[in-house]
Amino acid sequence: MTNQHNAKLTTNTGAPVGDNQNTMTAGVNGPVLLQDVHFIEKMAHFDRERVPERVVHAKGAGAHGVFKVTNDLTKYTRADFLSEVGKETEMLARFSTVAGELGSADTLRDPRGFSLRFYSEEGNYDLVGNNTPVFFIRDPLKFPDFIHTQKRNPQTHLKSTTAVWDFWSLSPESLHQVTILMSDRGIPASFRHMHGYGSHTYRWTNAEGESFWVKYHFRTDQGVQNLTAEAAERLAGQNPDYHTEDLFYAIEDGEFPSWTLSVQIMPLEDAAKYRFNSFDVTQVWSQKDYPLIEVGTMTLNRNPENYFATIEQAAFSPANIVPGIDFSPDKMLHGRVFAYPDTQRHRIGPNYNLLKVNQPKNPINNYQRDGSMRSDNNGGSDVYYEPNSFGGPKESPVDKYATLKIEGIAGNHSYQEDDFYTQPGDLYRLLSEDEKQRLVDNIVGGLSTVRLEEIKIRQTKQFYKADKDYGERVAKALNISIDQIK
Ligand code: HEM
Repeated sequence: MTNQHNAKLTTNTGAPVGDNQNTMTAGVNGPVLLQDVHFIEKMAHFDRERVPERVVHAKGAGAHGVFKVTNDLTKYTRADFLSEVGKETEMLARFSTVAGELGSADTLRDPRGFSLRFYSEEGNYDLVGNNTPVFFIRDPLKFPDFIHTQKRNPQTHLKSTTAVWDFWSLSPESLHQVTILMSDRGIPASFRHMHGYGSHTYRWTNAEGESFWVKYHFRTDQGVQNLTAEAAERLAGQNPDYHTEDLFYAIEDGEFPSWTLSVQIMPLEDAAKYRFNSFDVTQVWSQKDYPLIEVGTMTLNRNPENYFATIEQAAFSPANIVPGIDFSPDKMLHGRVFAYPDTQRHRIGPNYNLLKVNQPKNPINNYQRDGSMRSDNNGGSDVYYEPNSFGGPKESPVDKYATLKIEGIAGNHSYQEDDFYTQPGDLYRLLSEDEKQRLVDNIVGGLSTVRLEEIKIRQTKQFYKADKDYGERVAKALNISIDQIK
């Protein structure tokens, strides 16, 4: 619905409105009348304008775009949108911070969400990743606790660095992501100047039924650029919407940002023998072992016409997969496959997929009916159950999810591998002297505000375990003796 030019103002039921300036009152100075239906409708609708903000990644910006295949990878996947070199697929992207509320500053130190939707001819494929290749935790049971530490303290209603570092220091699997977050990459210069990653391992299957493990890398064609901590702090005050503005006006001015998608492909049987757990989202695969293979280019070329309709109501979900792409045995991913549609039923409503931004480009054919805000024809007079004798839609066995051999005993199993230190240590050792210094400064900036000494010591021990120099520098800056962290 878009207003016709110079049309008559109407109520939601189409009746013309006679006065939009003065409420109807009993006499010039009298009380407002309940029979002023235009006023009541207008105010009641306004009272309900907000939907709950996303429980995480509330602040974000997005744009429409296109994905173009540049390399034939049909030997790895039968995904339709990757089926031909030159094939183009409409896309939607949304970038975000994680911890802040809807009105929070864009330039805070935080991972950036990197949500992508491919409107493929076989359904929507969503890749809901971050600008970092790893994550803080590797079991979904820990996610609500982790996010509580990122949000406000229930008593003070303040953000708490004590809670943040307490959780991290007690969850050593977070060290790799914490090191990335505290490095220069922790504050991108803009959404256009950062890479994006699927982070999890996914599974691709080709037309012959052969499967591979896959990791996605979107490399920015604008080049990586970051903000210094000082510049970011200044911008947070001067222009909290700095990244949102940058994305909108770059696209408005025809400077369309683009990213090159490459993948790492691992043969199925390698997973069991790789030196890290291939499905642990706190670890990366070495690019020496599994080099990047180019797939195509994503270009963002159109701003949404309406922010709420397209970006706020967008319901990205790792559960949205298409034939040729499946999940891996990553428990974090399984937790997410439940959480996103669940929160979206609550945040937007059970029929959220009927909203234009969430509808696939191909028709939806199923037997789901009714529910609040059912806004299409609800299946009309079509057959409403399956199996049936009336030619209703039928399953297509060729599109079954890929199978996976599983054995073992059901239980609350921990990961067998507990190497939390090799990869963050390697990352530290790769940094230049200046980069190391800024990393330590950023860590100390945060840790020094923690209100409990034992948390500072415990966390510094983690840095020391990854690399002695790393731990010693943090300790020195915090006035902790080396003996306390050995
Ligand atoms: C948003 C849960 C891990 C990236 C969300 C939302 C929930 C959620 C409930 C809000 C969705 C909405 O309201 O539409 C979880 C859980 C996780 C997890 C339970 C772990 C068990 C991750 C990881 C990544 C990630 C590992 C990245 C690799 C994102 C992004 C968004 C998001 C980018 C914003 C989506 C958008 O742009 O609308 N998450 N998350 N999350 N999450 Fe996660």
